[in-house]
Amino acid sequence: MSQYVGAIDQGTTSTRFMVFDHSGNEVARHQLEHQQILPQAGWVEHDPTEIWERTRAVIQSTLTKADLQASDLAAVGVTNQRETTVVWNPKTGRPYCNAIVWQDTRTDRIAAELERAGHGDTIRHKAGLPPATYFSGGKLRWILDNVPGVAEAAERGEAYFGTTDSWLLWNLTGGVDGGVHVTDPTNASRTMLMNLETLDWDEELLSIFKIPRSMLPAIAPSSNPELFGKTRADGPFGGEVPLAGVLGDQQAATVGQVCFRPGEAKNTYGTGNFLLLNTGTEIVRSEHGLLTTVAYRFGDAEPVYALEGSIAVTGSAVQWLRDQLGIISGASQSESLARQVEDNGGVYFVPAFSGLFAPYWRSDARGAIVGLSRFSTNAHLARATLESICYQTRDVVEAMQADSGVQLDVLRVDGGVTANELCMQLQADFLGVPVSRPVVAETTALGAAYAAGLAVGFWSSTDELVQNWHEDKRWNPTGSEEQRERGYARWQKAVSRTLDWID
Ligand code: G3P
Repeated sequence: MSQYVGAIDQGTTSTRFMVFDHSGNEVARHQLEHQQILPQAGWVEHDPTEIWERTRAVIQSTLTKADLQASDLAAVGVTNQRETTVVWNPKTGRPYCNAIVWQDTRTDRIAAELERAGHGDTIRHKAGLPPATYFSGGKLRWILDNVPGVAEAAERGEAYFGTTDSWLLWNLTGGVDGGVHVTDPTNASRTMLMNLETLDWDEELLSIFKIPRSMLPAIAPSSNPELFGKTRADGPFGGEVPLAGVLGDQQAATVGQVCFRPGEAKNTYGTGNFLLLNTGTEIVRSEHGLLTTVAYRFGDAEPVYALEGSIAVTGSAVQWLRDQLGIISGASQSESLARQVEDNGGVYFVPAFSGLFAPYWRSDARGAIVGLSRFSTNAHLARATLESICYQTRDVVEAMQADSGVQLDVLRVDGGVTANELCMQLQADFLGVPVSRPVVAETTALGAAYAAGLAVGFWSSTDELVQNWHEDKRWNPTGSEEQRERGYARWQKAVSRTLDWID
């Protein structure tokens, strides 16, 4: 009897493989970064071949390190950066071009044109998304229009589209020797091409984007024992293991945080922030700038939906302090620097580097630091950066409460930035609700493992998973309501200064 479940977490900056036991505890892991390719302002690319190589390497070194065989794994789950678009040739196994990453804004004209042509409301209604550079449909259109030979190859059935889950599944299950071309509804719901009600590609949306259906993967339930295939025996696992769970990374974190009941929410602090609220089997269409997305679909059960507030730049603003400004040498130093001052000294930083995502959806916004005086220091800027993470979260919490009527009584958090104690305290202070972090902070990989393990009976039900969740730390709000609201009003004023910057 296999004792463990594995999870591949293919993220924006790195890929990791983790192994979990029945209690949801980590047994082993290995992680490798891949290159961020920035050919020009606004463009962000990844090399899909490098991602596949890194994936193989992290699997092999984790198994070697922990002395595990394929037969020790009951199943493997895959979770991934969402929206990042890969197009490859199934005959040669080679990508036609670099992957266009979710942060890339080169499709701003395509998004604006969709709105101008009057398709915005159809896309919002059917796909739950506003036309924006963020989603994969526009990126795929761009590749068809701009990469020589792809449109013709698509006609011949020689061009497959996929987000990185599909790319890895295809390679893991056989590649040119017959890899499966498949995705799950959480990833498909980020394309602008899937109908939220049918969970299938939508003919009208496909014709708006002029995407040939033959390029698209099949959509299989996020947790299922067969449709994602098995790892090939001569691949990195060295044996056949069922690939039984696939979830986009933010939906995986929602599952890892065991937000299975309507009204439960989690906020993941990575390069960006992603707050998801489970709305149950109901599709709640946002009127306040949130996305409607699929949270998960387990087997034949009805799909569960979520409202999502996506923020493009949070942890990456801290990286910017390190890499571009050089005022800190590592992410953890942002906390010690920010602690040197008691408050932001009137400085507000809106890191609208990729425009503003939720709830604004303004691709014409660009970053701004406002409220500077002769008194301002690096420490104020570090503090304003941490505050920007928390104020952006408040923006999406406000939208979420307005859309759903659900008042948060606690915010479950995970992701790298949650190691920053000052940031978490500021988050509780700015929201006026407690912030709670679980013991197993790797909720994304854990969620993918849960989806896979549920499919093969390794875990019997979501109730069993709920028992695995334990709180590690809780931050309670401090400060008065008046302080909270004064700071937030200033933040909103700062946001207004970033709009209409790009013509
Ligand atoms: O939608 C983008 C999101 O899936 C990226 O997450 O953690 O790879 O930055 P992450």
